[in-house]
Amino acid sequence: MERSFHTAWVGNEFYYFDEIDSTNAEAKRLAQKNTLHGTVVAADKQSAGKGRHGRSWQSPSGRDIYFSIILKPDFSPECASGLTLVMALAVSRAVEEHCGIRAQIKWPNDVVVNGKKVCGILTEMCVETAAISYVIIGTGINVNRQDTPEEFPKEIRNTATSLFLEKGTVIDRESLLQKILQSFEAYYGQYVKHLSMEQLLEEYNTRLVNRNRQVRVLDPKGEWGGIARGINRQGELLVEKENGTVMQVYAGEVSVRGLYGYV
Ligand code: BTN
Repeated sequence: MERSFHTAWVGNEFYYFDEIDSTNAEAKRLAQKNTLHGTVVAADKQSAGKGRHGRSWQSPSGRDIYFSIILKPDFSPECASGLTLVMALAVSRAVEEHCGIRAQIKWPNDVVVNGKKVCGILTEMCVETAAISYVIIGTGINVNRQDTPEEFPKEIRNTATSLFLEKGTVIDRESLLQKILQSFEAYYGQYVKHLSMEQLLEEYNTRLVNRNRQVRVLDPKGEWGGIARGINRQGELLVEKENGTVMQVYAGEVSVRGLYGYV
């Protein structure tokens, strides 16, 4: 589809679907063909939206934003996990500018408004002979969901919200997507310059919702607690244990939650 997002390279190739299984799955299928770095796949509805840790991502039509970006970078696979943080920054900046509401980040990949999740990011990578073949960054944003049991089922009601519910007015999805793609392009440029979060560290840590708060680190090898102090240049979360040791937590299979709930 021909579409200009007023970006240099993100979204120059753009695929839109009224309904698709998952934009990440479609992006993977496309990435195996000759697709451009920066190709964007978006859908109004997903029938099999995927979340982190094998969960599903509820994706009704006419309400939200679901999109995936295909990247074909020439850096090494260890640097790819930072791209989730880059997208979290891009979404929070765009939400703030477009909707005029404060957006924070719950490390590594949730964007949070007033303590509740509005956006999740699922980054998937294909590596061949130790080099990145492609990276897919999939992003789902609760934009115009209403406060009904169908749109916010019991399981997520206390931890999730939508931009509509927080702002009180309907949000134009296309112009929000355009803003996100523009900010992603700008932040990506800064990330790639140093192949680290160096230039983005300060803004990320300012937005970090758990900063200087008690967190539980949910590691499959065992759960433990401490105070989140911010991220380092590699995008790892620094968590200070009671004995003063500062641990570097790598996102991978780990998630973090607040002592009394989600944040
Ligand atoms: C999470 O669990 O927080 C991550 C959710 C990611 C959902 C998005 S929606 C667009 C893209 N396509 C998918 O199937 N998942 C991601």
